[in-house]
Amino acid sequence: MNSNAAILQARGVFKNYGDIRVLHDVALEVAPGTTHAVIGPNGAGKTTLFKVLSGELFATAGTVHFEGRDVSRVPGHARVRRGMGRTFQVARVFGENTVLDNMAVAIESREAAKGSHPLRSLSVSRSSALLEECRSILAQVGLGGRLHERAGVLAYGERKRLELAMTLALKPRMLLLDEPMAGMSPGDRIAAVELLRRISLELSMSILLTEHDMSVVFALADRVTVLNYGKVIASGSPEEVKASPLVREVYLGH
Ligand SMILES: Nc1ncnc2c1ncn2[C@@H]1O[C@H](COP(=O)(O)OP(=O)(O)OP(=O)(O)O)[C@@H](O)[C@H]1O
Ligand SMILES: [Mg+2]
Repeated sequence: MNSNAAILQARGVFKNYGDIRVLHDVALEVAPGTTHAVIGPNGAGKTTLFKVLSGELFATAGTVHFEGRDVSRVPGHARVRRGMGRTFQVARVFGENTVLDNMAVAIESREAAKGSHPLRSLSVSRSSALLEECRSILAQVGLGGRLHERAGVLAYGERKRLELAMTLALKPRMLLLDEPMAGMSPGDRIAAVELLRRISLELSMSILLTEHDMSVVFALADRVTVLNYGKVIASGSPEEVKASPLVREVYLGH
């Protein structure tokens, strides 16, 4: 792949926590419109890499480029404004507010960030266009029937879907998801895989996710990067990675 064509690219990334080196010369490229999974055993450095890519942490050395621009020193919130949508391992929704209000806040903050109008309070009646957009995105994530319920009463998997809907409302050009299925029931996992597959196809979304569950990875990912002790030990298609003797040894255990 021509590296200039990557939507997200990490090069020579090192990350130390004090004296402990957690990432060692990590490189990764996500092609536009593809789903890229980062896998590896517990403590391999997946979340640390995710934080470096999303801007929650800065690398000790190395660079991160998004759409060809160096964002290595751009903080996370500014990367979101540049089109990198992300979710958090524990869904960040406002439990006291309804599903619809949570969405409206996300859309209003997007509009406020554009400077098109100031952030309005929840009590202000909303335009029908905004409501229509809320309904449409919530329907996409399967919450179309729950608009007027408090977010706090949603089941765990539903709250994760609401958070995803709120991230989609920002109209990102890329989604970064750290273990999006963590804590979900097997049924919710299957539904979430289907949902991400649909978002990937229908919106041509570029997605980077970290994941433990190999069945999820092989159902979703076009490309896989395998980390072990902070180093990339394999990268390629799911089939290539699955066939790698090193990966089988350190990750799959056979
Ligand atoms: N803030 C921190 N300070 C010091 N060490 C840390 C910190 N955060 C993580 N680590 C260490 O860095 C290593 C990588 O952690 P990280 O959370 O990135 O791994 P991971 O692959 O996401 O693991 P998991 O599969 O458990 O989510 C681990 O050894 C961890 O103990
Ligand atoms: Mg992790």
